[in-house]
Amino acid sequence: MEPRKTIAILGAGWLGMPLVHALAHRGHAVRASCRREAIRGQLIDSGADPYPIDLPALSGPLEAFLRDCSALVVTLPPGGRRLGEEAITTYLAALAPLADFLTDELHLVYTSSTGVYGRAAEGRVTEATTPAPDTHSARAVLAAERWLSDRAARLTVLRLAGLFGPGRDPASFFACGRTVAQGDAPVNMIHQADAVAAIVHVITTGATGTFNVCAATHPTKRTFYGILSQRAGRDAPIFTAGGAAGKIVDSTALRTLGWIPRYDDLSLS
Ligand SMILES: NC(=O)c1ccc[n+]([C@@H]2O[C@H](COP(=O)([O-])OP(=O)(O)OC[C@H]3O[C@@H](n4cnc5c(N)ncnc54)[C@H](OP(=O)(O)O)[C@@H]3O)[C@@H](O)[C@H]2O)c1
Repeated sequence: MEPRKTIAILGAGWLGMPLVHALAHRGHAVRASCRREAIRGQLIDSGADPYPIDLPALSGPLEAFLRDCSALVVTLPPGGRRLGEEAITTYLAALAPLADFLTDELHLVYTSSTGVYGRAAEGRVTEATTPAPDTHSARAVLAAERWLSDRAARLTVLRLAGLFGPGRDPASFFACGRTVAQGDAPVNMIHQADAVAAIVHVITTGATGTFNVCAATHPTKRTFYGILSQRAGRDAPIFTAGGAAGKIVDSTALRTLGWIPRYDDLSLS
């Protein structure tokens, strides 16, 4: 049987909430941050202890939140679209109060993004590929990776590909009739359940380092979104040609450590 750990989750949103379920289900003591009353009730129902935390303004409860914890998972989103140029400063300001609590014993797991490699990256992309972020969010996420790696003794950075799953159906990512560029580009996606499994896996094994988290198959945008739109009974977007040399995110490193995704086949065959 797995040893019972106390695990804190900062940000119980679309990804954090099923993570709460998964960890509580495995018998761990789970603490989760929340900013809204409605979420507080959901957390209690899921077997987690809610802590009212809104960084950086409401950081007082961090001390109790992280006391005697063996792992902290940070899923705060960078908010680049909303914040624009301010995203890096605002994101690092939100993380700043954590600095006082990053002890040598604490295993910090940060949900980063494959966006750090940039949209212009081509061919196979591994963790050794030099990041070249080209959006406000991706630049903020890379800044956070670096900020955390300067401060956390035990850090796992999970660079997640495009997330999909319940409530995030790729068929609805593009409006009907919209023209989507580079229809021949490979997609890099990860199902919510597999992203949760990756987080659980690194917590359980204690693996540290930087890992890409992505499905093993990479159909073109035209195929992936086209078939899903068809299945959803929607008009597929119109795809322009191009992008065939686009990036293919390689997640071999985490697979080698034993992470086994369930939704690897995105070819929808
Ligand atoms: N979407 C993608 O395709 C994608 C791809 C790669 C990586 N990621 C990463 O995946 C992670 C999880 O994303 P998600 O979709 O689960 O995000 P989400 O649904 O927006 O959840 C984020 C959670 O963090 C909370 N939060 C936000 N700002 C906060 C603050 N300043 N202080 C305290 N709590 C705060 C939110 O609270 P409220 O509910 O009150 O707002 C929410 O519970 C993020 O790190 C994101 O960067 C996403």
